[in-house]
Amino acid sequence: MSLMTLEEKVGQLNQLSSDFISTGPITCDGEKQDRVRQGKVGSYLNVTGAARTRSLQEIAMQSRRKIPLLFAQDVIHGYRTIFPIPLAEAASWDLAAIERSARIAASEAAGSGIHWTFAPMVDISRDPRWGRVMEGAGEDTYLGSLIAEARVKGFQGKGLGQVDAIMACAKHFAAYGAAEGGRDYNTTDMSMRRLHEVYLPPFKAAVEAGVSSVMNSFNDINGIPATGNTYLQRTILKGKWNFNGLVVSDWGSIGEMINHGYATDTADAAKRAIIAGSDMDMESRAYVGQLIELVKRKIVPESVIDEAVCRVLNKKFELGLFDDPYRFSDESREKAIWNDPTHLEAARDMAKKSIVLLKNDLVKKLGKPLLPLDVFGSTKIALVGPLVKAISDNNGFWSYSWPDDSVRVVSLWKGVERKFKASKDLIYAKGCELEGADTSGFAAARQAALKSDIVIVSVGESGSMSGEAKSRSEIHLPGIQEQLVKELVATGKPVVVLISAGRPLVFNWIADNVPSIVYTWWLGTEAGNAIADVLFGDHNPSGKLPMTFPRTEGQIPIYYNYFNTGRPFKNDKDFNYVTAYTDLPNSPRYPFGYGLSYTTFEYRNIRLSADTINLGESIKVKVNVTNSGKYVGDEVVQLYIQDVAASLVRPVRELKAFKKVRLMSGETKEVEFLLTEKELSFFQEDLRFAAEPGLFNLFIGGSSHTSVHTSFYAKE
Ligand code: NOJ
Repeated sequence: MSLMTLEEKVGQLNQLSSDFISTGPITCDGEKQDRVRQGKVGSYLNVTGAARTRSLQEIAMQSRRKIPLLFAQDVIHGYRTIFPIPLAEAASWDLAAIERSARIAASEAAGSGIHWTFAPMVDISRDPRWGRVMEGAGEDTYLGSLIAEARVKGFQGKGLGQVDAIMACAKHFAAYGAAEGGRDYNTTDMSMRRLHEVYLPPFKAAVEAGVSSVMNSFNDINGIPATGNTYLQRTILKGKWNFNGLVVSDWGSIGEMINHGYATDTADAAKRAIIAGSDMDMESRAYVGQLIELVKRKIVPESVIDEAVCRVLNKKFELGLFDDPYRFSDESREKAIWNDPTHLEAARDMAKKSIVLLKNDLVKKLGKPLLPLDVFGSTKIALVGPLVKAISDNNGFWSYSWPDDSVRVVSLWKGVERKFKASKDLIYAKGCELEGADTSGFAAARQAALKSDIVIVSVGESGSMSGEAKSRSEIHLPGIQEQLVKELVATGKPVVVLISAGRPLVFNWIADNVPSIVYTWWLGTEAGNAIADVLFGDHNPSGKLPMTFPRTEGQIPIYYNYFNTGRPFKNDKDFNYVTAYTDLPNSPRYPFGYGLSYTTFEYRNIRLSADTINLGESIKVKVNVTNSGKYVGDEVVQLYIQDVAASLVRPVRELKAFKKVRLMSGETKEVEFLLTEKELSFFQEDLRFAAEPGLFNLFIGGSSHTSVHTSFYAKE
C-alpha cells in the first residue's frame, strides 16, 4: 500500500459493470478500458468467460502497479449447469446437497474467470409478493442460517487460493427482505430485537463460516440507508462479529442515498458510505469521483481509505491473483468443465429433492392416490398447459442462458417423453398462455384430456416473474390458467397439477378441487427429468416448504413463528373478538415445513432426558418415527419449541432442529436431538442473548403445524 498513490488506492474501491450483461441501470460514461489501464478500477462485475476476463486482466497489467482486477458475477444457482432456484433448494432441507450445488456452481464459474459470486442471498422474507424470495432460503432464521453456512462453504470450497474456489458474498445487509408491502427497494422499519433475532443471524452464520464478502442493501432501516449505516457495518459486522472480509455496496446504492434524502450530493454520499464501512462502490462512481478530494480536504481520513483498500487487496492476495492474475482465466479448464456429466447428475438430484408434494388425495375410483402414476401399456397421458414445453423458464431468474439451452435444458415434455417410452400415447395441448384472457386453446385442451387416461397440467409464473424488481401485488396464478384447470377437471379425467413459480402462489380452487398437486418451483437444467422422476415414482418426494403459503394476499405478512396476541385465535371458524379476519380462515393454505410423501410417517413417544433441567444444561430429545406406508421415503423430522412465558413475548413456536431420515416401508427409527442453552435463548430487551427459566413446550413432526408435543422446565 505504501507504494500506491491516493488515486490508485481509490481506484481499488471502484467496481464497474461490463456492457456485456446488465443487472442494474447501466451508466454509459465512456471508455472503461482506459480507466482500467490508469488503475482506476479495482473490480468488474458482469464479465464472464475465460477469454474476456483474460483480455481485461491484460489491460489491468498495463497499469502502473499491475494490480489484478477482481471479476464478480451473480452466480446464484449455478453457472453453466443451472440448479433449482435457491428457494427451491431450501425446500430440500438437505444441507449437503445445497453445499454441493454451490460447490459445482463455483467450480464452473471459476473455470470461466470469475473470482467472486454475489451469493448467497441470506435475507429472511415473510412476504411472497417480494420477487426476490426466489433467491433466498425463505422465512425461517434457523433454516436460513444453516443454508447460509452450507452455501458459503460450497462456494469457497477448500478455501480461497484453490482454483475452483470463489469468494462468496452474504447479501443484502440488512433487512432487505422486510421491505414494506413486499415492494422491492422499499423502506424497512423494525425493532432492534426483531432485527437481531430474525434478520441478522443468517449473516452471522455466513461470517462464522468464513464468508469473504458482504453486500449491503438498497433499503433504509429505521431511517438510515443500509449503505450508510455505521451501526450495521462498523459496530455489528466489522466490530462485534470481527468480519475481516470486504463490504461491497449494492448497485448504485451509494449514489441512491441522495434519492433517499440522506445525502445532499455525491460527495456527501461517498463520505457517508466509506465512513460507515462500505469498502467498495458498485456502479455509483461516487468513490472514484469524490474520495480523493474528500481526503485532500481532510473530510475523510486517509486511514479509512487504507482500511478499505487493505480489505480489497487481501482478497486479491488470498485468491492468488498477485502470483498469477490469469489463474482463473484458463480456456482449457473452462472447456473441460463445460459439459461435466456429474454436474448434471447433481443438478437432477438437487431438483428432485426440491420438489414439494402438496396434495395427493385418495381417488375413490382408483382406490389410491393418482401419484405415483400407474402406467399400463395402453395408458394415454395428456400434458396440458403453457409451461409443458417451456425451456428457458426452467432456469428461473438469476441464471444464464447458453446457446445450446434448447438441447440441454430438459423441458417437462422431454422429461416425461423419455420416461414414458410410448410417446405416441403422449398428447400435448398448450391450453392458454401464461398471461392474458385468450381461451381459444381450451377446446383443444379438452379434446386432449378426453382422449387420455390421465391429465397432467403444468401452470405457474414465467421464469422472470420473480426475481429482482419483480414484486407483485397479486400472487394468484396469472391469466386464465386456473380456468384452464377447471375446464380439464370438468372432463371428469383424473388431473394432476404441477405449479412452477419463484414464490408461493395463491391457487385456492386448485387446492380444493384437484386431487394431486406438485410444487416444482424452477428447477434448472434438469427440471423435466426431475419432475418425471417424481411423477413416475422413481423418486419419492420429500421437499418441505421453506415459506408459508397464504390463502390470499390479505394474509401477508404470514409466517409460522408469529407472536400470540392477548386474544389468540383458536380455530379457523371462530373469529369473534379474536385476532382473525371475518372473511377468511386464519390458517395459511400450506404451513411452513409442510410437504407430503408417497408414503406416510407417524410420530410417537417423545422422550426427554429430563423433565426439568438447570439453565445451562442440555436436554436430549428422542422420538420414534415410523414409515407407515408402502414406499421407502425420506422425512424431515422437525423440532420446534415455545418459551411459554418470558420477559418478552415469544413466538408460538420456533424451529430449533431438524434431521432428514430415510425409512423403509414399515421401519421405525429413533431420531435424537440435543437442545442446549443456545436453543432456549433469545434477544432480551437490552439485546443480550440469554435464556430464561420457565416452562418450554416442545413439538416434533413433519411440519410446523404438528401437534405431537411434550414440555419441560428450565430452572435458574
Ligand atoms: C443488484 C442486486 O440487488 C444484487 O443482489 C446484485 O448482486 C447486484 N445488483 C449485481 O448484479
